[in-house]
Amino acid sequence: MTLRLGDIAPDFTQESTEGPISFHQFLGNSWGILFSHPRDFTPVCTTELGEVSKLKGEFAKRNVKTIGLSVDPLEDHKKWSGDIGETQGCALNFPLLADADKKVSKLYDMIHPNANDSFTVRSVFVIDPAKKIRLIITYPASTGRNFVEILRCIDSLQLTDNYKVATPVNWKDGEDVIIVPSLKDEAEMKRLFPKGYKTVKPYLRITPQPNK
Ligand code: BEZ
Repeated sequence: MTLRLGDIAPDFTQESTEGPISFHQFLGNSWGILFSHPRDFTPVCTTELGEVSKLKGEFAKRNVKTIGLSVDPLEDHKKWSGDIGETQGCALNFPLLADADKKVSKLYDMIHPNANDSFTVRSVFVIDPAKKIRLIITYPASTGRNFVEILRCIDSLQLTDNYKVATPVNWKDGEDVIIVPSLKDEAEMKRLFPKGYKTVKPYLRITPQPNK
């Protein structure tokens, strides 16, 4: 199944390092990140799982639950999570799906046969509280993800939802943002952006980040 932005994230039940997970129930009213790993006991994945564990507080601040996936069995996950704690300075502190039957990998199209016909690529799905897929990124097995960039994308998505702004190229938290082009009503703009805004072009209106 091809999943696209705006689609409802498919629900599933699968084993994990924290017991069986029913995905939609697990997400509840939170945002979520579902991300896949090629295999257990691989070096890049080991660093990624350590990093996401270290960033737990950053994800929690944004009301985001994290959930990883690897197609190896639960017993391997349990042994591997010991290695993660030992080598990465932080124990695994979120569920890792044991997708040995590839149920979830297939549902989310995480196996790209022309890259590798057995193992998942590094897929990332960001899902909002309405269970809509809001971001999809795919990395090859040999490239570790930048989870600070993924946090930045979540900040951008949440700003858009809460304040009707978009974020410009290379935007970082605290920098000016762009008023969404669909917003035309001047009275509403004055109400939403009390710090003011600058019209560079009719379609390019800049305002200080509203939640700072
Ligand atoms: C890794 O996860 O470390 C990895 C997987 C496949 C190719 C290279 C690295």
